[in-house]
Amino acid sequence: MKKYSLVICGGGSTYTPDLMELLCYAQKEFPLKKIVLYDTDAERQEPIGKYGEVLFREYYENVEFYYTTDKKSAFQDMDFAFVQIRAGGLAARNMDEKIPYRYGCIGQETCGAGGLAYGIRSVPQMIQLIRDIREYAPDAWIINYSNPAAIVAEATKRVFPDDKKLINICDMPTQIMDSYLPLVGKKRWQVEPRYFGLNHYGWFTGLIDKETGENLLPEILRICTETPDKVRRMLAEMYGRDPHWGGTFQEHLDMILDYPYSLPSTYCLYYLYPDKCLAHYNEHFTRYDEVMRGRGSNVNSYCSSIAKLGKMKGTEYDIGAHINAAAGNIAEASSSTIAYNDVHAAYLIELATSIINNRNDICLVMVQNNGLAPNLDPGMMLEAACRIGRQGVEPIQIGEVPSFEKGLLENQYACEKLLVDAIFEHSYQKLLQAFAVNRIICDTDRAKKILEDMIKENGSLWVEFERQG
Ligand code: NAD
Ligand code: G6P
Ligand code: MN
Repeated sequence: MKKYSLVICGGGSTYTPDLMELLCYAQKEFPLKKIVLYDTDAERQEPIGKYGEVLFREYYENVEFYYTTDKKSAFQDMDFAFVQIRAGGLAARNMDEKIPYRYGCIGQETCGAGGLAYGIRSVPQMIQLIRDIREYAPDAWIINYSNPAAIVAEATKRVFPDDKKLINICDMPTQIMDSYLPLVGKKRWQVEPRYFGLNHYGWFTGLIDKETGENLLPEILRICTETPDKVRRMLAEMYGRDPHWGGTFQEHLDMILDYPYSLPSTYCLYYLYPDKCLAHYNEHFTRYDEVMRGRGSNVNSYCSSIAKLGKMKGTEYDIGAHINAAAGNIAEASSSTIAYNDVHAAYLIELATSIINNRNDICLVMVQNNGLAPNLDPGMMLEAACRIGRQGVEPIQIGEVPSFEKGLLENQYACEKLLVDAIFEHSYQKLLQAFAVNRIICDTDRAKKILEDMIKENGSLWVEFERQG
């Protein structure tokens, strides 16, 4: 059986330890001969790399593992590159989220002014990284998670139009499927999704039972509308250990009750209920602070403790029983032990195995519209159901989208397109337009104030914007 080589870019990411653990669970399904971590920040990657050395030595027979900041040793002859970088690091996320609050609007990682600011850092770094990977691994599948994925996808579509092995993805739809499918007693690998939208701004229109061909979504929506308290309790139990996502899913259910004909992304909350979302945080405390106290510090101390011990087997960190239970397959794997964001890793592995086994699973990825939804801009990078196999991504027709969703999407696409134009053309005018057209920012004077602070505080992390032109 062929074994593959994988590089994880953004090796120091808070998501890397869970991903490495899930690679151990899925070793029969996704057999690897080499796993490499790559990061530009050696210090940040070090504890995670040291944890990886112990993990793979003890639980992954004959795999070669190392971590590096050197591009050649990271990318040469790779079959897969999983990308999860955060341009500017978490400190920049803090800035993105705090500045908008000074001017009374939501600061968020991917939506509104925060997401746009992140896009300005992410686009040039992602383009450079893809060029670097392609220099050493022209045939590798590059599967990118780095945010803001909608803006990254709009930019990579323009720069790498013929690169069929570059795929931008998001784990949120997968998380939403896992959250609501228990209502009809199904697991996500038993259904095929139908979905349309921009990334973090989309709607499920179908969840098709693979066995019977039945669309399960109407039944899920019926249960939500007729017995919301039951659904509320289920979601509360599911997200009991995570107040942020617990609260998000309660509000998500409220959104379903307001628009009970499709299943929206949780991120639609920021656009459709900006007042409510604004009240969750403030200028001094945002999601960044929660992540630093939670996932950020847990991952670090977990990895450092194992690195210090130098072993996992026979210690409180032993995952041997989980590995045996999984029997090499991701579908059987129990939840990972570190940050519990299994969906993130599982979705990457599901996509990769659909490719290597030419399984042609229907997955949600970002793809150019080109008539899939004929009443939306043909250039729009839609998140949509596609067959994924060795030949790449084959999208499934969507059809005309309703007026409400069309209006929202065209508005947001104008914003994202203008932002990418602004980055490539160094145009302050287009930058201002991108901010002013955004539904969460809205007002030109407010956009100008936010931009003034962001330009100053991002410094050289942003390209320069010229005021004329
Ligand atoms: P993080 O800051 O903990 O990790 C990112 C890592 O990337 C850091 O170690 C950093 O040093 C490294 N990095 C930054 N720029 C780099 C570059 N140019 N080349 C190589 N490495 C670089 O962030 P995190 O919270 O773990 O998130 C990682 C990324 O994954 C973010 O972009 C986040 O938004 C994204 N993410 C996306 C999804 C999705 O649904 N698409 C889901 C989860 C996370
Ligand atoms: C979901 C989204 C990602 C986002 C992440 C943020 O997984 O799909 O795009 O990066 O949540 O989570 P955080 O816990 O960092 O706020
Ligand atoms: Mn996402």
